[in-house]
Amino acid sequence: MKKEQVANCQFSVWYPIFKKHTIKSLILPLPQNVIEYLLDDGTVVVHGSEDSTQQTQTNTADGEEDQEDIQWSDDETTTTVTAPEFPEFNAKVQEAINLLGGSVFPKLNWSAPQDANWIALNNTLQCQSLRDIFLLLKSSDFIAHDFTQPFHRCSDDSPDPEIGYELVLRKWSELIPGGEFRCFVKENKLIGISQRDYTQHYQHIYKQQDQICSALLDFFQEHVQYKFLDEDFVLDVYRDSWGKVWLIDLNPFGPVTDSLLFTWEELTSGHDLMADQTEQGDVPAFRYTTSEVTVQPSPCLSYRIPRDFVDLSTGEDAYKLIDFLKLQKSQQDESDEEA
Ligand SMILES: Nc1ncnc2c1ncn2[C@@H]1O[C@H](COP(=O)(O)OP(=O)(O)OP(=O)(O)O)[C@@H](O)[C@H]1O
Ligand SMILES: [Mg+2]
Repeated sequence: MKKEQVANCQFSVWYPIFKKHTIKSLILPLPQNVIEYLLDDGTVVVHGSEDSTQQTQTNTADGEEDQEDIQWSDDETTTTVTAPEFPEFNAKVQEAINLLGGSVFPKLNWSAPQDANWIALNNTLQCQSLRDIFLLLKSSDFIAHDFTQPFHRCSDDSPDPEIGYELVLRKWSELIPGGEFRCFVKENKLIGISQRDYTQHYQHIYKQQDQICSALLDFFQEHVQYKFLDEDFVLDVYRDSWGKVWLIDLNPFGPVTDSLLFTWEELTSGHDLMADQTEQGDVPAFRYTTSEVTVQPSPCLSYRIPRDFVDLSTGEDAYKLIDFLKLQKSQQDESDEEA
């Protein structure tokens, strides 16, 4: 997997090519101060009025320079970080959310904050305001990865391509997990298809496997093949209840992308996966979870402990540990005084 392949899988690169076949989305460049806020490891205390639209209107006169309005309380034992506000960016985001119908699915150049959904009130990535978006983005290791190591596991030593970070807002769409599939494309050939949510057994997939496989192959041949910048890539698609196929995402062909019910060795080795099939010609290998026995735990489960607790328990973040101990001590002092 080359750096250039990863760069080509950024949302703003593939979206214009496949716009007609995917969920309506808007791309907003991230201002530098917002990037710094997202990367800052401080406590997330998002303030502001409940109604973010109102916030936008009352703050439009402010410059974005005011964002470093971090207020540290005098009491050193209870440090409160007030989240900065970004009035201009907030106005753009709110306008985009309104254009997309009021609810959006957020992601950056490559990743969505799927590992952070436990932190959201409704346990989904559905966002109605910049405040909802910030909470998810700041809590996600997947997002941190996009910022800090986008070219992790690339095989070439060339300099990293320049990245302009972007916030992608996609119209919120209720996708049924049993309708999602991941398609592996090598040398512009669809070699393998895997059920996306391999943690469950879906009867309809088992029953309609031939129809599903040919619908995805048709979609690929008609709308995707030879139209992308690379010949190796991974395509995520959705087959809706009317049988129409939609493109959901494009990912690099390599170990940063989860190979689901295949292994990367199988996918990259010379061994022809299609040889598994009968003499039907170019039929991709189609894999799905066959029975309840093979049901697996959800891959994002391990992310559900707040990172701070993990850092504290492993002693990875000394400052958090010191703050925690100070807080404990002050609480103890208070209760001593009361006694
Ligand atoms: N517009 C949307 N509305 C609601 N849910 C969505 C939307 N887009 C994607 N999803 C859901 O979120 C999941 C992850 O989305 P997406 O593939 O864009 O994230 P990702 O970070 O690229 O994931 P991966 O690391 O697996 O490639 C999808 O499988 C789908 O279930
Ligand atoms: Mg993806």
